[in-house]
Amino acid sequence: MNVSGKTVLLTGGTNGIGREIALQMQAKGAQVITTGRNPDRVAATRAAGFEVIEADLSSAQGVDGLIAAWGEMGRELDILINNAGQLVDHDFRNGAVDPDAADDCIYANLNAPLRLIAALTGGLKSRPHAAIVNVTSGLAISPAARTPVYCATKSALRFYTLALREQLKGTNVQVIEALPPVVDTQMNDGNPMKKMSAEECARQIIVAIEKDRDEANIGLSRALRWVESVSPSLVRKITLSF
Ligand SMILES: NC(=O)c1ccc[n+]([C@@H]2O[C@H](COP(=O)([O-])OP(=O)(O)OC[C@H]3O[C@@H](n4cnc5c(N)ncnc54)[C@H](OP(=O)(O)O)[C@@H]3O)[C@@H](O)[C@H]2O)c1
Repeated sequence: MNVSGKTVLLTGGTNGIGREIALQMQAKGAQVITTGRNPDRVAATRAAGFEVIEADLSSAQGVDGLIAAWGEMGRELDILINNAGQLVDHDFRNGAVDPDAADDCIYANLNAPLRLIAALTGGLKSRPHAAIVNVTSGLAISPAARTPVYCATKSALRFYTLALREQLKGTNVQVIEALPPVVDTQMNDGNPMKKMSAEECARQIIVAIEKDRDEANIGLSRALRWVESVSPSLVRKITLSF
């Protein structure tokens, strides 16, 4: 799909990978409407020329507010990118875990994309060529021991995406999964692993949209997919240590 002239709703475009997707798609001629929570980042994104809907996606109320605000804008949507996501520490080896933080993570990473897809797929089907892009993770393939809640949300979103693609096969709506590797964003502050730049990760996600690919397996995620195909136990051993 040529993204020029397309209208894009991108969640979490105020920071990290999402901000890079917003900038690169705008440079290619797309109209990007994005979302965020942090007021300073929302203001900075608006100052960069983007329309931003403020929304906390960790509750149904927040997602419904976004859907209502989108409806009031009266735009025809071509591409929905479910990018917003959060990582929560959930490691019993370090003491007690916070179930409320886990709930927020589950809502933002899984329920919010599903609710947006439920609300917006009808409109996408009426467009000549449309796409739903769900940003999961290499950890959707196999989990890291220290972030079980995050990994559970991403693998659940991966399975949902695979099934949704089958349902929408033969329609004008391409269903794409993007699996970033470890990327140099706020989410990875303090992570000593080698990181891909957010610019490069965003570039590869946009290439997948432009080339109508089902998946963007990016960097290390591509290698994990391959190792999993030959030895699931080896890929488990690798990612559990992350
Ligand atoms: N970084 C990585 O290594 C990596 C690897 C694999 C997959 N991913 C996935 O890539 C996506 C983007 O991650 P990133 O690294 O770019 O993260 P980031 O730099 O922390 O940015 C996350 C974006 O999502 C928004 N967001 C997060 N939680 C939200 C919530 N509950 N409600 C509303 N907005 C929320 C943030 O807005 P505010 O700043 O306003 O909260 C921000 O705009 C996520 O889905 C993540 O899981 C990242």
